[in-house]
Amino acid sequence: MNAVRVKACAKINLCLEVVGRRPDGYHDLATIFQAVSLHDDVEVKLRDERGIRLDVEGADVPPGRDNLAWRAAQVYRQMRKWPAGASIRLIKRIPLGAGLGGGSSDAAAVVLALREMDPAPLDVAQVERLMAALGSDVPFFLTHGTAIGYGRGDDVAGLTDLPYCWIVLVKPQLSISTVAAYRMLKRRDLTDGTHAQAMAEAIDRGAELDEIAQHVHNAFARPLTERWPLFGELKRRLMDAGALTAEITGSGSVVFGLFRAHEEAKRAAEVLEAEGLWACVVEPMPAGAEIVECVE
Ligand code: C5P
Repeated sequence: MNAVRVKACAKINLCLEVVGRRPDGYHDLATIFQAVSLHDDVEVKLRDERGIRLDVEGADVPPGRDNLAWRAAQVYRQMRKWPAGASIRLIKRIPLGAGLGGGSSDAAAVVLALREMDPAPLDVAQVERLMAALGSDVPFFLTHGTAIGYGRGDDVAGLTDLPYCWIVLVKPQLSISTVAAYRMLKRRDLTDGTHAQAMAEAIDRGAELDEIAQHVHNAFARPLTERWPLFGELKRRLMDAGALTAEITGSGSVVFGLFRAHEEAKRAAEVLEAEGLWACVVEPMPAGAEIVECVE
């Protein structure tokens, strides 16, 4: 086999609690990740020529070493001393600076593809080291569809699938840097992880969507909404359109709404799109990264 195609899904944080600051400059989190059907396509091909080549379609993302997908291949190659060379083709659909984890998902997809083609794949401990070097969200994408994350968000444990629902994603025309969003947090935005634990318990018990929705929380909601009141407005509009709950994902700028009925979700997304906003309807997925084709 010398080429593998992977579906690299986006994620939302159904719950994102920041618990405290760590000595290494990161923050300890308690978060519930959910993979969703919006995805990038990632194709990884082995080649005899040395080095990693990256082609990107659909977005103005950094080429070469500034791209997480490129770095994933490079780190894999350094750790494993294989392959000599690889070319990566990335078709981007997941918007950037959105809190949807697109870059991390692409990186996880590259690791998945390389492991699939590797005659002697890295063991689990090596893969964990590799993922930790790439970013906090990468382990989730490589392992689960619904999960609770602790530590930097990289210590993940899988949960039962979410009940049937539809999710509207809407992105205002601003991209927020994760680092800047963490800097906006005040002491009062920190919580102790009980929202995420309660949500994880409800999901694993197979609770109804209404109960799960009650535990939706995001530590960045206060500072981001104070600075950009549009976030509050978008949440209200999703609720008025029939969402059980609406919240920011990650450190923004996408807002998601959880819907039971597809018709309501579709209508809500259409109205927002007609106003010039980026919006779409997605559904929960059972895995963050999934192999779709292996080519001999
Ligand atoms: O891990 P990742 O590279 O995705 O994180 C980007 C930035 O977000 C980090 O450099 C850090 O400033 C912030 N961050 C944090 N605590 C986390 C995750 C990210 O402070 N748990």
